[in-house]
Amino acid sequence: MRPTNAPSQADDRPAAAAGPGPVLRVRNLSVCFRTDRGVVTAVEDASFDVRASETLGIVGESGCGKTVTSKAIMRLLPERTSFLKPGSSIALAGRSGGPDLDLARAPESVLRGVRGARIAMVFQEPMTSLNPVFTVGWQIEEALKYHTTLDARARRARVVEMLRLVEIPNPERRAGEYPHQLSGGMRQRVMIAIALCCEPEVLIADEPTTALDVTIQAQILALMDNLRRRLSTAIVLITHNLGVVAQVCDRVMVMYAGRVVETGSVGDIFHRPHHPYTAALLHSIPKAGARRHAQRLPVIPGIVPSLTDLPPGCRFSDRCASRRDACGAGEPDLTDAPTPSDSPGVARAVRCFFPIHHAAPPAAGNAHTSPPRADP
Ligand SMILES: Nc1ncnc2c1ncn2[C@@H]1O[C@H](COP(=O)(O)OP(=O)(O)OP(=O)(O)O)[C@@H](O)[C@H]1O
Ligand code: SF4
Ligand SMILES: [Mg+2]
Repeated sequence: MRPTNAPSQADDRPAAAAGPGPVLRVRNLSVCFRTDRGVVTAVEDASFDVRASETLGIVGESGCGKTVTSKAIMRLLPERTSFLKPGSSIALAGRSGGPDLDLARAPESVLRGVRGARIAMVFQEPMTSLNPVFTVGWQIEEALKYHTTLDARARRARVVEMLRLVEIPNPERRAGEYPHQLSGGMRQRVMIAIALCCEPEVLIADEPTTALDVTIQAQILALMDNLRRRLSTAIVLITHNLGVVAQVCDRVMVMYAGRVVETGSVGDIFHRPHHPYTAALLHSIPKAGARRHAQRLPVIPGIVPSLTDLPPGCRFSDRCASRRDACGAGEPDLTDAPTPSDSPGVARAVRCFFPIHHAAPPAAGNAHTSPPRADP
């Protein structure tokens, strides 16, 4: 009984063990904003799945559409200035074999029952998400009051249990404290406690560790990973940090200028990237053990184009070292990648006319799927 019960017992299921089907199935998601310069499409035709116990990383430079994608799933975008194009679908798998719920079409009354209970989100800066005038215990209890049938006593017990679960020392005392009395790392843990207190099937974490120092960042990531295993939560992790992706994700979706440009397992993406943008992102991360100042890190020239001034043809064409004349003629589709995934059952796709070629992955069984370590 998900919403009212204590967390399920720990299990040792390996990461990304696929359940019967995806928990979340996004198809042809296109998100538009009405702006002074007309309607802009911030995310165009994005399709992806997330399964129980799996962590999907969404990466890409600033302005690529990562947050818009996640807020569209939660239906948290401003109603007056944004809309989903017809044909967009965001299917949340039905419980106990029931029908899927299409969040793209669900009315606000239904969405209110889904947000926090079945899909929860952790934002980058906890101070802007936590209410400064209420204690953290009160704020966790609010979610329980709204989404569960627990009585007051059981709710208070659950608040303490959640604070303990996210490893906040002395949870009974901390529950009575205000956000400003906690450190940044502890506030982020409280946000995770709020997000997970109703045991959502999907957790979307948008840059959850960016504002934290490296040690606390590692602790928060380990905590999320631990909770994923215990509660079988599907996690969508949005980050700029490929080192973080290498540490905790199972699959990766690379976005550029509102488009999904490559998808695959972490091993696929890190060892055999097909899209020149993915390869360029990987080149620009520091390698563990590399000598400092030995050479400057390569950077991707130029910036992500404005949505109102996209280059003709491939959106990456004005920054791509592999560009050819044909790249300006039309936009490539997202198609099956030339090399199959090194992970069984994982689809690989790339949006490029001239993808980078690699030797086929080692035969199953010998597959080397662990990505190279990068400094987080
Ligand atoms: N309310 C809005 N009105 C108009 N355009 C918007 C709005 N919100 C986002 N956008 C545009 O949508 C695009 C994608 O923004 P988004 O916030 O998803 O980027 P992001 O990938 O999350 O970047 P970052 O890494 O900086 O958080 C950007 O061009 C942004 O300007
Ligand atoms: S389609 Fe052409 S410009 Fe675009 S990423 Fe591929 S090679 Fe580069
Ligand atoms: Mg963002």
